[in-house]
Amino acid sequence: MGPPGAGKGTQAQFIASHLSIPKISTGDIFRANVSQGTPLGQEAKKYMDAGDLVPDEITIAMVKDRLAQDDAVDGFLLDGFPRNVRQAEVLDEMLLEMDTKLDVVLELVVDDDEVVRRLSGRRTCRKCNHVWHVDFDPPTKPGVCDHCGGELFQRDDDREETIRHRLEVYQEQTAPLIGFYAERGVLVGIDAAGPVDEVTERAITALRPFS
Ligand code: AP5
Ligand code: ZN
Repeated sequence: MGPPGAGKGTQAQFIASHLSIPKISTGDIFRANVSQGTPLGQEAKKYMDAGDLVPDEITIAMVKDRLAQDDAVDGFLLDGFPRNVRQAEVLDEMLLEMDTKLDVVLELVVDDDEVVRRLSGRRTCRKCNHVWHVDFDPPTKPGVCDHCGGELFQRDDDREETIRHRLEVYQEQTAPLIGFYAERGVLVGIDAAGPVDEVTERAITALRPFS
């Protein structure tokens, strides 16, 4: 968990590969549907472009579907889900049905100014989805992915006014989950400021007792 731009996707990639479990990112699944032009993507795009949450019925059905796939049987890392109390309650039901439980909720703590800096400089590869940053993690050649030569683009929801709105949505709807998970004793918070590799180190250290 953490606000938009906290580095959830970036860290999830490293942590999931470190733990050899799949990374399940609702944002990534929505964006894949948008770029393929599926009905789900067309519906989700309206909300994403405005910086609002996609309705729960759509999001929950999509996560149920994803968790039913074979690679999720030995564990998984959720990125961007749950994002409100209803989603958290349904996740509990889904986990119960799967005869499993949440081991830990990792919160990336970072301030709003840093979030705006990170999101306004974010660039994503159209081909391999790798996420770059124009200042903090720049590709060798501007606009071109070092990994696959793909074209880099700026997300539609990374405009400054949409970023501010996403932060409000986070505070109103998602931040209450921090208390929800803290009360259960599964929340671990780490300082997400500083270079990517230092944050990864902190995350892996914080997760060690649970992995
Ligand atoms: P989603 O894709 O989940 O977006 P988000 O939560 O707003 O998070 P971001 O992807 O913007 O940021 P991040 O924390 O992953 O940061 P990143 O690692 O990229 O959701 C998008 C939309 O989909 C939502 O608005 C909603 O409409 C919909 N949606 C998704 N899930 C939903 C749900 N459950 N319910 C309803 N709707 C849902 O890093 C950001 C940038 O910073 C990058 O450029 C990166 O290179 C750079 N960076 C990362 N770490 C560092 C560091 N330590 N130092 C310097 N730069 C860094
Ligand atoms: Zn690429």
